[in-house]
Amino acid sequence: TAVHRLDYCPPAYWIDTVELTFDLDPAKTRVLSKMRLRRNPDVPAQPLRLDGEELNLARVQVNGAGTSFKMDGGQLVLENLPEGHEPFELEIFTTCQPVKNTQLSGLYVSEGTFFTQCEAQGFRRITYFLDRPDVMASYSVLLRADKAAYPVLLSNGNLVESGELDGGRHFARWHDPHKKPSYLFALVAGKLVAREQKIKSRNGGEHLLQVWVRAGDLQKTEHAMNSLMASIAWDEARFNLPLDLERFMIVATSDFNMGAMENKGLNVFNTKYVLASQATATDVDFANVESVVGHEYFHNWTGNRVTCRDWFQLSLKEGLTVFRDQEFSMDMAGSASARAVKRIEDVRVLRTVQFPEDAGPMAHPVRPDSYVEINNFYTVTIYEKGAEVVRMQHNLVGREGFARGMQLYFERHDGQAVTCDDFAQAMADANPGSELGNRLEQFKRWYSQAGTPRVKAEGHYDAVAQTYTLTLSQSCAPTPGQPDKQPFVIPVALGLLGRDGSALPLQLAGEAQASGPERTIVLHEASQTLTFTGVAQPPVPSLLRAFSAPVCLDCEYSDEDLLLLLAHDSDPFNRWEAGQRLMLRVATKHIADSHSSTSTEAASGQKLLSPALVQALRGVLRHPQLDAAFKDLVLTLPSEAYIAEQLDEVDPQRVHAVREALRLELAVALQPDWQWAFEAHQDSGAYSPDAASAGRRALAGTALAMLCLAAQAQGDAVWPGKAYQRFKVAGNMTDRINALSALVGSGSDLAQPALERFHTQFKGDALVIDKWFALQAMAPDRGGDVLPVVRQLMQHPDFSLHNPNRARSVIFSYCNGNPAGLHRADGAGYAFWAEQVLQLDAINAQVAARLARSLDRWRKLAEPYRSAAREAVARVAAAGSLSNDVREVVTRALAD
Ligand code: ARG
Ligand code: ZN
Repeated sequence: TAVHRLDYCPPAYWIDTVELTFDLDPAKTRVLSKMRLRRNPDVPAQPLRLDGEELNLARVQVNGAGTSFKMDGGQLVLENLPEGHEPFELEIFTTCQPVKNTQLSGLYVSEGTFFTQCEAQGFRRITYFLDRPDVMASYSVLLRADKAAYPVLLSNGNLVESGELDGGRHFARWHDPHKKPSYLFALVAGKLVAREQKIKSRNGGEHLLQVWVRAGDLQKTEHAMNSLMASIAWDEARFNLPLDLERFMIVATSDFNMGAMENKGLNVFNTKYVLASQATATDVDFANVESVVGHEYFHNWTGNRVTCRDWFQLSLKEGLTVFRDQEFSMDMAGSASARAVKRIEDVRVLRTVQFPEDAGPMAHPVRPDSYVEINNFYTVTIYEKGAEVVRMQHNLVGREGFARGMQLYFERHDGQAVTCDDFAQAMADANPGSELGNRLEQFKRWYSQAGTPRVKAEGHYDAVAQTYTLTLSQSCAPTPGQPDKQPFVIPVALGLLGRDGSALPLQLAGEAQASGPERTIVLHEASQTLTFTGVAQPPVPSLLRAFSAPVCLDCEYSDEDLLLLLAHDSDPFNRWEAGQRLMLRVATKHIADSHSSTSTEAASGQKLLSPALVQALRGVLRHPQLDAAFKDLVLTLPSEAYIAEQLDEVDPQRVHAVREALRLELAVALQPDWQWAFEAHQDSGAYSPDAASAGRRALAGTALAMLCLAAQAQGDAVWPGKAYQRFKVAGNMTDRINALSALVGSGSDLAQPALERFHTQFKGDALVIDKWFALQAMAPDRGGDVLPVVRQLMQHPDFSLHNPNRARSVIFSYCNGNPAGLHRADGAGYAFWAEQVLQLDAINAQVAARLARSLDRWRKLAEPYRSAAREAVARVAAAGSLSNDVREVVTRALAD
């Protein structure tokens, strides 16, 4: 039962207003919905079909009188509605059982508090409705509940009225001044407290900001509130988009399927992205809170004021909003080099998670053509690749041009439900004559074609003519349902470096004069050749600067070329990339070399890294000007996932062994440098999570891990001892967990006592205990020792499969974050995975379907992994009762 994009039809009815009355009771909540509807004059007359799921229907009335209805596949069908185009009133009375709602979609209870999650199709689990984003209505909500148990009653918009009722109950009435689709509806009811802040916006309007949490968590909300204020100021300053509400609320819950949700005026967040304190949250947590608070806030315009016509357009709001939150984080980070660090981190996610998705059975375009379960399409392709597609438009029209495009987008579409085409069209129309304006139709292939393009670059230097010709060609492998791809529009930002590392002027043949040292070439044909003139020496090209397009770049660099780029490229992204390429080269060479076993390599002290590479890495580590955060990125080996992605056939054990050997070699070869780095990057003064301080802590943490690793191999107890000491006395969670993970990661005897101490110290703080579980599930596998630990962790009294954060901290950490632990020659990791997918599916289909993705690239594995993984996927597919969510994932994984 797939849905297809081209089958889109406008709704047969419009719902103008909704009045909802909730009598909240965990066991049986009563919901009265009074709607004003009218027929859509543009659509032939037909019955009204309302979506519903797991509801008990008690009464249906039209214009105050009973009416006939029938049920059809979960839908409530009304055939005898008033004819003509006059509005009529429809009243539906239903009940539901929030306490039994383990799916965490619709209305559910978490730790005694009611929450809702309606995106994408959760509203139909609350009442019968036209549960689709192009039906936008005005909502009034009356909440009634026991006052002692549920003292706080929240919904979207403005509080109109509140008061007492008989029997210890009370009520609150809310009205949302903005029309919205049902997926943006929210209510919260329970025992909560708020941090409040009043602000004035530029136009003088007053707004009340609130961050609602459980009573004990109030001290952990300062960073979220600061992030919200910064987000509001940023959207006004950068895009001229003001807060359009008198009241803006964030509420945190510890039971949540995803990160957060942008319900109009009432954002609901996973506690993980709200709560942060120096003692309990790492620098990464602080940065994530800032970015997710920003993301949800920015949805208020890109998502809520202008929403999606249908769910195939999901990237319209998600890709754009991710682009906006990335830019926000960069602007908050400040310096050019801090921006580059953020860019590298974002690209790392894209390449280690989205590129594999694009190369696997779940590959889909940024604007998909069909789906079975929309919840399976909240993917890195929709979000992160979607953001790259917006970023390319930004780069093609420039910062000013992009701002003009946004303005035109809102002028045209404010209050509407629109498509990805509408966005790109506004960008192009606001920038006639730009590369985007000129090539819009072709550019839009980024929305319609799945797969990661490969760009091949071949350079040739002619010393006599003093020319450098660069041929760029593109291709894209087939993806499911798309055997042939048309050329993409690929912006390639580039520069040329001289042998001394200087930037060469760029002058294309036929041009009167040289341009600056960097320019963007738009590759739009299958192959294009550029000739640069006046090139006095053979250059080294720096291509795809700042990762100007989401592609794989193949370029036959010599090691010397890459060392030059690593030492001198003015583009920090490519400087980092050169180091990654050098390390990747070493890794893939030794992985392919099937004769040598890595354990003997390591034991015999055989060197994998060349002295030149070690020296170059030392040069970066000791560099007097570079930022610590950047150094940390350069000195970090490509992940096992990224290395695996470069191979045709993957033996995960071999990848792990080689990478671990490289890590140890780097630890030993740079031992004095790591010691210097650790000592030179100690905090002085009060803790602050800003990018510069966080970078110093990150580098010190990596140095400590390397020092422990080297010490462990050398049988030296000094550094593990220092790490344990630091773990004990650390003044913040970043230093503490870095020290703990240095002990766990190096296999020190002190790891176990440290873990026990950590649990005792933080028991009762769920987010910290999640870290404790995750650290153990992701520990480097030594002879298959992780799986038994994971099974044991699931017996721990603190473990629960019903809490998504906890399930993720153990099961996902192991299945997605520990390739060597999962991919065992005996197949026991796969059996565990299958067991957990099935167990979870009975509780929470969305979370189960995410886990089901862990093995969807079984085809890429070498034997014996491949057969064993396939068998596990087949076992899940053969299970008796599967959710649509999981069924879609495993069916696609097995399809050929
Ligand atoms: N719109 C939310 C966000 O990006 C995420 C909602 C995810 N919903 C889902 N069913 N997976 O912030
Ligand atoms: Zn979003």
